[in-house]
Amino acid sequence: MPLLIRNGDIVTADSRSRADIYIESETITRMGRDLEAPPGTDVIDAAGKYVFPGFIDPHVHIYLPFMATFAKDTHQTASIAALMGGTTTYIEMCCPSRMDEALEGYHLWKSKAEHNSACDYSFHMAVSKYTSETESQLREIVRDGVSSFKIFLAYKNFFGVEDSEMYQTLTLARKLGVVVTAHCENAELVAQLQQELVREGKTGSEWHEPSRPESVEAEGTHHFATFLENTGASGYVVHLSCEGALKAALAAKERGVKIYIESVIPHFLLDKTYAERPGVEGMKHVMSPPLRNQRHQAVLWNALNAGLIDTVGTDHCPFDSEQKLLGRNAFTDIPNGIPGIEERVNLLFTYGVKRGKLDLHRFVDAASTRAAKIFGLFPRKGTIAVGSDADLVVYDPAYNGVISALSQHVNNDYNGFEGMRIEGRPAVVTVRGKVQVQDGEFVGERARGRFLKREPSHF
Ligand code: URP
Ligand code: ZN
Ligand code: ZN
Repeated sequence: MPLLIRNGDIVTADSRSRADIYIESETITRMGRDLEAPPGTDVIDAAGKYVFPGFIDPHVHIYLPFMATFAKDTHQTASIAALMGGTTTYIEMCCPSRMDEALEGYHLWKSKAEHNSACDYSFHMAVSKYTSETESQLREIVRDGVSSFKIFLAYKNFFGVEDSEMYQTLTLARKLGVVVTAHCENAELVAQLQQELVREGKTGSEWHEPSRPESVEAEGTHHFATFLENTGASGYVVHLSCEGALKAALAAKERGVKIYIESVIPHFLLDKTYAERPGVEGMKHVMSPPLRNQRHQAVLWNALNAGLIDTVGTDHCPFDSEQKLLGRNAFTDIPNGIPGIEERVNLLFTYGVKRGKLDLHRFVDAASTRAAKIFGLFPRKGTIAVGSDADLVVYDPAYNGVISALSQHVNNDYNGFEGMRIEGRPAVVTVRGKVQVQDGEFVGERARGRFLKREPSHF
């Protein structure tokens, strides 16, 4: 059935207008003032509300065997949580370990998502080792519609690649026009510092940050950038957390290295004192790179507003309290990750746009458009235009609420942002023209989500 969204304040990364949006067969077919609603059209009145393009989370973990356990979400729970928070597309990290084959891993991850996601999705393909089999497997995965890889400089012996493997991955990526996303921390330094701290009896979650200090992330970022520089590949630094790493990435950009920068919502709002809380409360806030000293937050907000940080994702990765307690004897065993797929947009709007730290268009750009452009989804996703998929967020800036694990849709028993106020939330969310969320309720189709095939574009 056609859908007409009337009277909204339509905001994209580079435009703002008051207009109606008409949707037929999943696509925006007309935009303009006072559009007619033919009989049989559903009408939504968006007066007093923004209409944003569906938001894109470029960094999530849903199915993830990691640190002796599995992340808690299913594609069903994570996608509904995403939609409640205005995210209509996510890109999941497909992460087979060094013990697994890339192609087998890819099919496994894809099968977990198929018919299970309420919103659209894609994958970044992790390259956790590089053997004689890898190139042909990666070529097949790219042909199937995955145009971004992922490498970990951290997590030695599990996901982490050697320098020679990074070189081969980047060389292939350049040939294929694929962008390579990277977790940038020096694995050897992390391993050495962890051992030293544990030997000294420093085993609590408060020692997680000192085991991966700013300089370790800055080195990892510089290291990755140097490999990009010498292979000519395009790269994307994930979950950048601190000034040192930002400087390393920006210095590379200045040298002409093709490098994009992502930060994630926890790093803008949570600082290392959260991980210093006693017992499991601290463990809940262990992720890598770690939550930092609060002084880094102003640096990240400024760089985001200036467009130096390209995107804001979540690194959504839920482990519940019982799983976090695997690290009761040593912080090195705490499963790393903080969920955020449901909260990202509302937090960015509240603490960025409403507090005057983030321009409204930059907000749309960072949370939707730029990810669509970098990862080959634009203009199908990431904007509001005739011909684009009708993924729309009618957003109520007058809503007031408080984040609580009691009302979340993520499959977890805590929320890392518990108690934070939000000043705005989606009133209506559509996925290809179908209303999936209305007034804080999921009202849609649980299996509406489709796998998005993406073409390589980084030549
Ligand atoms: O702590 C994190 N970030 N957990 C998920 C795995 C990763 O490094 O992205
Ligand atoms: Zn990571
Ligand atoms: Zn991650």
